Amino acid sequence: MKELKIGVNIDHIATLRQQRFTDYPDPLTAALLLEQCGVDSITVHLREDRRHIQDKDVLDLKRFLRVPINLEMAATDEMVSIACSIQPAYCCLVPEKREELTTEGGLNLFIDSHNISNIIKELQKSKIRVSLFIDPNVLQVKMAKDIGAEVIEINTGSYSEASSLKDLLSLASQVELAAKMASELGLSVHAGHGLNYQNVMQIAKIKYIEELNIGHSIISRAVFDGLGRAYIEMKEACLQVRTND
Ligand code: PXP
Repeated sequence: MKELKIGVNIDHIATLRQQRFTDYPDPLTAALLLEQCGVDSITVHLREDRRHIQDKDVLDLKRFLRVPINLEMAATDEMVSIACSIQPAYCCLVPEKREELTTEGGLNLFIDSHNISNIIKELQKSKIRVSLFIDPNVLQVKMAKDIGAEVIEINTGSYSEASSLKDLLSLASQVELAAKMASELGLSVHAGHGLNYQNVMQIAKIKYIEELNIGHSIISRAVFDGLGRAYIEMKEACLQVRTND
């Protein structure tokens, strides 16, 4: 069985920065810290409205990071042109709605197959591996293969919202079925969305999945892991100036 890779989505470092338009916290610093800890890849979503990650963040990551960058983006000409000039290792095409809080649902490859197929070719010409974010549905998996994707990322959003153990297990088996089919078709299989420290196990068990992309829960956990120290450092800095007087 291949070793499971865990990539981290660092969008929410940029969310915090954009809240005040400061120059911190810096997503590149976060990515470099994760790299030191052995992270397998870094994901950023460059949204059309630039609500968190900015173009410069992607450029900085490309310049300084050694681990693969997975650029999530909408299937638009603007994004394709940015991706082709920056050349991340992966582009993950996702549906994007301006009013949504986070990506809601996977791509419907039956609606947009011609456009997506052209975009895949364009990105592949720039040596970018293209991943399609799709729901755990075998028809979508087959379509992803037919239109030339090399990777799929299975949307675990519905799984992570399951309200009972029965639903959770049934949604996990849908993910497994889609992952198995994708793997048999020769696609690399990634998965992500809404995974946290409580629900990740059922998905991490699925042997066909090569990589999980996790963001919100890891960044949220990091806040508490660092909060006590951050307070102590601020208090020490303030008390220090008094003892110096
Ligand atoms: N994969 C995709 C395609 C996403 O859009 C997101 C959220 O930006 C993630 C994974 C990570 O989701 P979460 O932040 O809920 O872990």
